[in-house]
Amino acid sequence: MSEQEAVQETNDEATACKRCAVELGYWKDGFVQQYMRSAERRAPEINRGYYVRVQGCYSIVKKFLAQTGGECQIVSLGSGFDTLYWRLHEENDLPKCLYEFDFKQVVARKSLSIKNKRKLNEALIDGSISGNGVKSSRYHLMACDIRDTDSMHENLLKAGVDLNLPTLFLAECVLVYLAPEESRGILRWASKSFLSAFFLNYEPVNLADRFGDVMRTNLKSRGCPLLGALTCKTVDDQKSRFLECGWAHCECLTMTDVHRYLPADDVKRMERLEFLDETETLHQLMDHYCFSWATNDPTNIGLADIGFLGPRR
Ligand SMILES: C[S@@+](CC[C@H](N)C(=O)[O-])C[C@H]1O[C@@H](n2cnc3c(N)ncnc32)[C@H](O)[C@@H]1O
Repeated sequence: MSEQEAVQETNDEATACKRCAVELGYWKDGFVQQYMRSAERRAPEINRGYYVRVQGCYSIVKKFLAQTGGECQIVSLGSGFDTLYWRLHEENDLPKCLYEFDFKQVVARKSLSIKNKRKLNEALIDGSISGNGVKSSRYHLMACDIRDTDSMHENLLKAGVDLNLPTLFLAECVLVYLAPEESRGILRWASKSFLSAFFLNYEPVNLADRFGDVMRTNLKSRGCPLLGALTCKTVDDQKSRFLECGWAHCECLTMTDVHRYLPADDVKRMERLEFLDETETLHQLMDHYCFSWATNDPTNIGLADIGFLGPRR
């Protein structure tokens, strides 16, 4: 298996984990099973980790939509089989347009599911679906290597992107698979091409320790090296990377911290779903993943107010 195929497989793993957690009631997503019919049961700490990851990302997306009154667009990089478009459509809370990018093999599989599953294609309103992706007025799925920012830019322009409309970039567990200069190239391109922008990045952090060694060795043995693992050794490195790539403001919190800012009632409900007999693995896991969010807001629409901050539990 090539390195690129191994990276694409991480999408199957993420989808299977999300499918499992949804089935156990960690959060609601009526669409993930359309992409993966069944999934083996994961350990409780994995399910809890995915809960924080998915709820964390979703809460930022919802805040961005609220702050911009829906007058915005979302660009999802390495989107895999993410169901964000369908969840927002169900809640009648879509941005002007959501653009997704992934490798052509992943896009071909996602397009096929969208074409064949009524629950997916009935949410499209209009447009066309082919093996190369989906084009519709509120949703575009495009095949492109995100390291090639010129092609991404061109694809976005063809799909009708508005460089002056507030834009949320989403990279959920993607940048860590890229070499440091490649991810910096993406951050620089996004920052210089869009007037008002918000970048949400979720990925591993604090990997310069024993836990990080094990994670890197495991993935490498599956043919999938974490090329970006040591660029962002710490939360501070994450922030500096964004600031050095043209972003005006950046925050970064580990999952342990983000967990404290999620709605307390829902966290309590989630924690009752499965018994966790030892919490050390969960704590280690949550200390080794982070959310970074960066903004450029020259017209002061309040993008820097979006984040996880709120009453701490
Ligand atoms: C761990 S999966 C995450 C998928 C999705 N963001 C989620 O969180 O469910 C990583 C995804 O990034 C995609 N990816 C990695 N490098 C990429 C690249 N250079 N160009 C396009 N997609 C890429 C992979 O194909 C895969 O779908």
